[in-house]
Amino acid sequence: MIRTTTRAAPNFALVKYWGKADDEAMIPAVPSLSITLDGPEIEVSVEPAGSEATGDDVSLDVAPVPEPWRDRTQRFLDLVRARSEETGWAVVKARGGPPPAAGLASSAAYFAALAQASSRAYGLPLDPESVSDLARMGSVSAARSVPGGIVVLDPADASSGRLGAHTIFPPTHMGMAVVVAVVDPSMKPVGSSEGMRLTRDTSPYFEAWTACAREDLGRARDALEAGDFAALGRIAETNCLRMHASAMAADPPLVYLAPATLAALARVHSLRQEGLSCFFTVDAGPQVKVVCLEEDVESVRDGMQGVTGVQDVLVQRPGPGSLISPDRES
Ligand code: PMV
Repeated sequence: MIRTTTRAAPNFALVKYWGKADDEAMIPAVPSLSITLDGPEIEVSVEPAGSEATGDDVSLDVAPVPEPWRDRTQRFLDLVRARSEETGWAVVKARGGPPPAAGLASSAAYFAALAQASSRAYGLPLDPESVSDLARMGSVSAARSVPGGIVVLDPADASSGRLGAHTIFPPTHMGMAVVVAVVDPSMKPVGSSEGMRLTRDTSPYFEAWTACAREDLGRARDALEAGDFAALGRIAETNCLRMHASAMAADPPLVYLAPATLAALARVHSLRQEGLSCFFTVDAGPQVKVVCLEEDVESVRDGMQGVTGVQDVLVQRPGPGSLISPDRES
């Protein structure tokens, strides 16, 4: 087993994944399209545990380590060992990245880095498609943090349970930036896996949500192809609110949006009225991600900083993904 350290960053979806077609095989019910960011990067190292070890040792530099992360990491490493000739226990250490389970795509960054590090440590294939496919088994959206730039994960591409995400445009395409308005970085009460299961099983709007997804993907691809930022924004905002509408109609209802989230959405609308090129998206948590053109990034950041209830504002750019390259591993 080779000691390996890798890094990966979150990705945010403009056309969202919400709901699984197959829980065991981790196949999404809908295609999704996202931007892989350049940070905040999480660093994950995987190394062999000592001969005394009776299990994997997982440590994150956040306290307390959320219990589901430990269990998910354990299950993930069991899968890695089942695919490998190496069967030893591992020591996994993770540092940095966004706060966990707050709707900031921490699990996407974590499992993308873990998939890459454990593939190398346990001698599994290192081609991007295989690493992305493996990352998906930790968290579906993690498959999208392996490639860089603008990325698609489409269940129509699945074959024999294998499915990886791929880049459709490079990070520099259209000169976009992402401003993250942090409303509340604490852990969300209902995680995304449980939230999407509830939505699928109880929301009368889940069917309508899945029915729109493929068309949203096609329209987003067309807007990207045409370099039409305003059209991309309309599609992304509508897709995001459709996802939340389907979740709110679950029983019990899932409301991830806080009052400050709505205030931030209203601010994005008014910044647009003032002539700035920007649009929002919101995941399973109250934070608001504002995609804008590079030339407007300072004005958008200032605008979001002034929203009551917004605690922090971060600026990220589209990033290169978490593919292993000599300067990104040790
Ligand atoms: O991959 P998960 O289980 O973390 O789910 C991610 C779901 C959303 O962030 C809400 C949407 C998406 O496509 O990233």
